[in-house]
Amino acid sequence: MRKLLITIDGPAGAGKTTVSRMLSEQLGYIYVDTGALYRGVAFEVIKKGVKSDDAEGLRTLCETLDLKFVLEQKSLSLISNGKNISDLIRTPEITMMASAVSAKQVVRDFLFDLQRQLGKDKCVVFEGRDMGTVVFPDADVKFYLDAAAEDRAKRRYNEMKDKSTQTLHEIEKDILKRDKDDSTRNIAPLKPAKDAILIDSTPLSASEVVDNMMIYVKQIGESY
Ligand code: DC
Repeated sequence: MRKLLITIDGPAGAGKTTVSRMLSEQLGYIYVDTGALYRGVAFEVIKKGVKSDDAEGLRTLCETLDLKFVLEQKSLSLISNGKNISDLIRTPEITMMASAVSAKQVVRDFLFDLQRQLGKDKCVVFEGRDMGTVVFPDADVKFYLDAAAEDRAKRRYNEMKDKSTQTLHEIEKDILKRDKDDSTRNIAPLKPAKDAILIDSTPLSASEVVDNMMIYVKQIGESY
């Protein structure tokens, strides 16, 4: 099978992370969670007290920010200005700030090159919101994974209940706000690429989604 660059876009809680990890493991590919990059920027924005609507402040922050993924034991750690912040970027505050800063052109431009660079040798599964539409319009296989909002909130709640005090209702409210903000922003809004394969994960387990994806991946990987 030839080397592929695979993108998986979709709203929060649709199961992208689990499925991207499983798919990349099956293929022996690297998995890149691009949401973590936006969370990394949000982490620094909060730390430095920059406002999400302060374009100049965001520009200066991005210009001086050394943000990168480093491969450690088969998975990528997020390093910001020399510090591993992978375990610090999943708080509700950072989640909402990541969504806010992701609507800013200066932030998207800053992360665009970084993401393109990570994809240059293929053999990568990229998870995000605009992977198939903006960052890798030339991707070999594009998936758009969706699920009912109620289902997505329940999944996120089950993932977070040991780490956060947020109730199911609060999580569902945040998810609906993020859906709206991420899909109505002017720059790189969340939407399926025209040539994306749409999968609704509501009635499916993660392995069923991956089995489904593998059919397309094999077909496309062996097609020429
Ligand atoms: O996937 P996530 O929940 O970690 O993403 C956090 C935020 O980052 C999300 O609300 C929107 C933004 N994001 C984006 O705009 N583009 C991406 N490719 C990935 C994430």
